[in-house]
Amino acid sequence: MNTLQTQHPGASSTAIQHHYDVSNEFYRYWLDESQTYSCALWSDDGEQDSLELAQQRKIDYMVAQARANGVKRVLDIGCGWGAVLRRLVDIHQVEHAVGLTLSAAQAEHIVSLNHPRIEVHQHSWLEHSPVAPYDAIISIGAFEHFARIELTDSERIEAYRDFFLHCHKWLKPNGWMTLQTISYGNMRREEASQFMNTDIFPESDLPRLAEIAQSTEGIFEVVMLRNDRKHYARTCEEWLSRLRANRDRAIALVGEDVFSRYERYLKLSAVGFRMGKIALLRLTLRRFDTLH
Ligand SMILES: C[S@@+](CC[C@H](N)C(=O)[O-])C[C@H]1O[C@@H](n2cnc3c(N)ncnc32)[C@H](O)[C@@H]1O
Repeated sequence: MNTLQTQHPGASSTAIQHHYDVSNEFYRYWLDESQTYSCALWSDDGEQDSLELAQQRKIDYMVAQARANGVKRVLDIGCGWGAVLRRLVDIHQVEHAVGLTLSAAQAEHIVSLNHPRIEVHQHSWLEHSPVAPYDAIISIGAFEHFARIELTDSERIEAYRDFFLHCHKWLKPNGWMTLQTISYGNMRREEASQFMNTDIFPESDLPRLAEIAQSTEGIFEVVMLRNDRKHYARTCEEWLSRLRANRDRAIALVGEDVFSRYERYLKLSAVGFRMGKIALLRLTLRRFDTLH
């Protein structure tokens, strides 16, 4: 692996800002009010469910799986606009919640909340250096940015393994972690859409389940795994209909090109999840106390 890849095996700040710093206002037009930008968890009898409720349910599920309720310190890697951080301290009695994001717009938004028990850093997990261990770690929808498509198979595993080793080091003994990520499903990496990997999420790539399993080996025990791909199809369809409902003001804000790009991306994603080409994994992981 060359030096550049060793330092930045995944998306750079510039690539992340290309996607997330379009405009906070634009994202408000189609995300739910908590501005959660990841797959929701719909109820089984879900027709009455709202996106807001389904996002709350997802956050509460991830918090419960990470055994983060009432603990002292929780890290959220890839914290977006802070929905998990806020729910941790406001609802789940967490003393201190720390978020990481590479997006300047997201970090500024969280700072503007001025919450005494929330801390945000605009830096990568690669640069993170906590002042004290964490009781739990949550990472939702960020892992998709941790390896670039041009990495070789062994470089990719090395990059993911490095991520899990860092998390292991930051957690208290026996600590828990929850990870939510999109992955390839019934589709090969070579078939990945050029549009998604360059225009929408540059310098990023999806993992395969086997790669996650391989990179956690000897570091974390996989306690639970669910594939909720249909939940993401429904989430994308909901985002798409909200975006379309706000078509005129969205175009006035970001222009026709950006609007059409996001519309196409949400449509393609919904179809990909429905067909099983891509999957939505939620993993519950427990730190192995001795590394092997
Ligand atoms: C799809 S958003 C998900 C946000 C949030 N977890 C949610 O569910 O609403 C992906 C997040 O990952 C962050 N991210 C991407 N690469 C990162 C890295 N190397 N280190 C820290 N955060 C990263 C982005 O800045 C963004 O906040």
